[in-house]
Amino acid sequence: MAFELKSVVPWGRNLKEYRLMFNLTEADLAKKIISAGDGPASFNAQMKSLGHKVISLDPIYEFSKEDLAQRIRETRQEVLTQTRRNQQNFVWKLIKDIDELEKVRMQAMQTFLADYEPGRQEGRYLAHALPNRTIYQDDEFELGLSSHFLLLYAQLGLDFHLQSITEMMRICREIRIFPLLDLNAEESSVLGETIEFFGSAYQIGIEPVAYEFQRNGNKMLRISKS
Ligand SMILES: C[S@@+](CC[C@H](N)C(=O)[O-])C[C@H]1O[C@@H](n2cnc3c(N)ncnc32)[C@H](O)[C@@H]1O
Repeated sequence: MAFELKSVVPWGRNLKEYRLMFNLTEADLAKKIISAGDGPASFNAQMKSLGHKVISLDPIYEFSKEDLAQRIRETRQEVLTQTRRNQQNFVWKLIKDIDELEKVRMQAMQTFLADYEPGRQEGRYLAHALPNRTIYQDDEFELGLSSHFLLLYAQLGLDFHLQSITEMMRICREIRIFPLLDLNAEESSVLGETIEFFGSAYQIGIEPVAYEFQRNGNKMLRISKS
């Protein structure tokens, strides 16, 4: 896989944030879940602690724990500096300031790192880059998630997103994508055509969620087969 670690800026969210971003109920948590572009989020690790098994897909899982820990140390200050510079683009409610942001993100990434080696051995962290075909059967998962990956990187182009979502819909009964914005906190330029493309085959809708950190990033896209 030609995926360079120096192009990665690891930044991970936690289970509480995933629950809010995706309107996840207790019943949802018990579903068979696959989550794309999970990076160093602690969602998988915290779900494991609750007795649930989540599969996370991300190309960064080809790297060792030491490599990822080193990359987190290298990029942490830069991300915080950028966020401080663009503070007005964020809603400081759930997370009240930069200091709390640093604490919450570092805690999530430490929880991920502690779980990473056992999780890889259990097949919960799979090195995989969408839109490549995954190893899973049609409809193997009840729920697929994408936090801050699909739609967000609009610069990857419409085809990348359509093909990646097509693969997710092959293996999942339903998927949820958050946020619907791009990296500049504008509505993702691939959102409209994505809705149009999948609207004829599936049920598709935008739903409000209780999470808002990127300003106006308080909606998710749900695509389902039933
Ligand atoms: C901004 S991070 C989001 C991490 C996590 N989902 C969260 O919300 O905390 C985006 C992640 O997408 C991953 N990614 C980039 N290209 C990908 C691809 N082609 N397939 C799957 N994941 C990818 C990156 O490696 C990175 O970990």
